[in-house]
Amino acid sequence: MIVTPPQPWWHAATIYQIYPRSFADSDGDGIGDLRGIADRLDHLVALGVDALWISPIFPSPMADFGYDVADYTGIDPRFGTLADFDALLAKAHGLGLRVLLDFVPNHSSDQHRWFVESRSSRDNPKRDWYIWRDPAPGGGPPNNWISDFGGPAWTFDPATGQYYSRAFLPQQPDLNWRNPDLRAAMLDAMRFWFERGVDGFRIDVLWHMVKHVDFPDNPPNPDFREGMGEMHRVLQLHSTDQPEVHAIAADMRELADRYDAVLVGEIYLPVPRLMTYYGSVDAPEVHLPFNFQLIEAGWNAAELADRITDYEAALPTGGWPNWVLGNHDRPRIATRVGAAQARVAAVLLLTLRGTPTLYQGDELGLPDAQVPADKVQDPRELREPGLGLGRDPVRTPLPWTGEGGFTSGAPWLPIDPAHLPLNVAAQADDPHSMLTLYRRLLALRRATPALATGAIHDVRAEGDVLTYVRNDGTDRYRIVLNLGHQPAAIAFEPGTVLLSTHDTATAATLRPDEALILKVD
Ligand code: NOJ
Repeated sequence: MIVTPPQPWWHAATIYQIYPRSFADSDGDGIGDLRGIADRLDHLVALGVDALWISPIFPSPMADFGYDVADYTGIDPRFGTLADFDALLAKAHGLGLRVLLDFVPNHSSDQHRWFVESRSSRDNPKRDWYIWRDPAPGGGPPNNWISDFGGPAWTFDPATGQYYSRAFLPQQPDLNWRNPDLRAAMLDAMRFWFERGVDGFRIDVLWHMVKHVDFPDNPPNPDFREGMGEMHRVLQLHSTDQPEVHAIAADMRELADRYDAVLVGEIYLPVPRLMTYYGSVDAPEVHLPFNFQLIEAGWNAAELADRITDYEAALPTGGWPNWVLGNHDRPRIATRVGAAQARVAAVLLLTLRGTPTLYQGDELGLPDAQVPADKVQDPRELREPGLGLGRDPVRTPLPWTGEGGFTSGAPWLPIDPAHLPLNVAAQADDPHSMLTLYRRLLALRRATPALATGAIHDVRAEGDVLTYVRNDGTDRYRIVLNLGHQPAAIAFEPGTVLLSTHDTATAATLRPDEALILKVD
């Protein structure tokens, strides 16, 4: 008899990303917090997700809204206390929800005590915990590397006469993972949270963590055009994706596996490079290198079919896929493809093979918010204004009720009045709403092993229609998605419609913007 080993919990799980500043505010200061999340877990249970990933909640000056960590083992008072965190974790676990935190290993805050020590003198024991270089021979930054937020990737420190590397803001100095003491301290920080019971981490900019040992100039980008953002002037050949990062990811994995925890790596790289972050059978790395294909793809059937096929074909043996439609850095799906196609996208996300991650607010079909110019908060927008790179439009507070319901005070970013009719309470009672569609999809996925973990095959595009089959050896399901705004016909085997993005289902002809899930023979 062949015994199939049990699947890890995160194979069949759906992850929901919480942007904590904007989820729910319990104390009226206008900023979401841990108690607010705990109070609203019922929304996530009713939605049907399995795990939460909470963007950074650690002490931070908030230069980059928590992605500038001043203490890896604390909780920022704006979000609450360690006791609040323990209570949230216990409540979530009691409801069957796992909790992932956001680990930010590439850089700390410039207010972290490690950096304060490091910059205090050239011979401080923590000097080498960060990346310090002399100015270039004629003066100026050591090389031509550009910050992801524009401008040089180096900041001069007049007191000690050297530059420090920082791939993002001057307030986010890059940590030196080549230093064994720093490495051990960071793994200790991960262990601290595992010991408290967290179920995993999303790892921020994993591919940035190690820089070329000799710091050569990056080559110019031949495809650069004005308006892309200054970082694209050069290819990040030497400042990212260095071979030494893999041993670090393997160390993190070894630690995570001791706690049955999952590691999701944030990596924006072409698929063949992305796949290397799964590691090997002998030295596995992150369980799920984030797959941003659906964020980057043109929204048409042919391109999506190619992206799905190529991604599946590129997976290493044993590598488990994952899919994402949006996050706190990228324009929302409802704005990218329109309200009707956002419903098709929901069916796509939740019927592809692999672990889906759903961004807060996408279950309501929120479009990007309009943020008045005098309310802009995002440093990305403030540094390179007007290019459409700002992230505030996807970070505004979640509308819980027709009045907002996010805070009793003044929210840190305004709620767009256009979001109010899309509030959770209104959609929960509406059988035709986006929220109801997401709930039905997640319930169906949970009840249907072939959709959760079955194989995928017969991925193809015909005109505007994308179709594929999910199959667990017992049951077969065909997914048919009309990516166009016209009726479309496509031949497929007879079956029973289990779900349609439209209210009543007829399988004969797809209506404009309709997606179907059928059980087929
Ligand atoms: C990626 C995060 O998602 C983004 O929000 C942040 O600004 C950068 N990393 C820097 O940590």
